[in-house]
Amino acid sequence: MTETTYQTLLLSVNGSVAEVTINRPDKLNALSAQVLNDLRHLVADLREREDIRAVIITGAGEKAFVAGADIGELAALNDWETGTEFARSGQAVFSLIETSPKPFIAAVNGFALGGGCELALACHIRICSENAKFGQPEVNLGIIPGYGGTQRLTRVMGRTYATDLILTGRMINATEAHAHEIVSRVVPLTDLMKTAREIASTIAAKAPLAVRASIEAIFMGSEETIEEGLDREATLFGRLTTSADFHEGTTAFLEKRAANFQGQ
Ligand code: COA
Repeated sequence: MTETTYQTLLLSVNGSVAEVTINRPDKLNALSAQVLNDLRHLVADLREREDIRAVIITGAGEKAFVAGADIGELAALNDWETGTEFARSGQAVFSLIETSPKPFIAAVNGFALGGGCELALACHIRICSENAKFGQPEVNLGIIPGYGGTQRLTRVMGRTYATDLILTGRMINATEAHAHEIVSRVVPLTDLMKTAREIASTIAAKAPLAVRASIEAIFMGSEETIEEGLDREATLFGRLTTSADFHEGTTAFLEKRAANFQGQ
């Protein structure tokens, strides 16, 4: 079912899974201010919607997921304050994705460069097609990644490799991206959306509060000391044992039937 279309995004909803397509294929889905603004509103809306349990993000066409921030707009920057604000506004949108209680799945269907790589990195799960290419080429333009790349790429693949990529600006292919844990799966382009939908609908059938707590434990907990992270895990675990869905999940198992989770 197709829903509201934003100027630069397509949204379709199937059951409890939303699919967001960045839709500027003639510009390889580059992130203009309009795309970021549309994304900000859509992500905020999807976070709140009770009928949505998982979100897939992909790019229109077969060539690019997102080829970065819009270089035409970038080129107009020339003062410290506006430049800083440019980075902060993109960071805010991507943080909205990363802190979402519902999983965002990046289905990377081609170039994921600069802001495109950073958008994928802000998602909770990343898969890609065999033709995908990842990179942070900002150094070629005289800047650095500004939408979280220096931080998230480093956390995802480690400092050694992230420094290589960010300082050389080189692109890596899907195999290398998989080897360095930028993506968890690589599939043929023709299977990409099918695989993303399978992942999304599998998660959407689980207890929403448990999914939400898993995201919090992993993403917040991994920024803390091991003691703080374990404490967070135990508290979340304890809270879940009081949920109706925990009762439903355990009862369904013992009664040998499928669980019907309500998110309570
Ligand atoms: N911003 C604005 N426009 C972009 C863009 C970007 N980040 N990336 C691609 N485009 C535009 C191109 O200008 C071109 O537009 P045109 O047809 O009006 O000239 C169109 O998208 C197609 O791109 P093109 O460069 O012709 O495709 P290609 O197959 O030859 O090269 C890339 C593909 C991805 C290697 C190349 O487009 C590229 O290097 N893009 C910039 C990547 C980048 O530096 N991103 C980080 C920005 S911070």
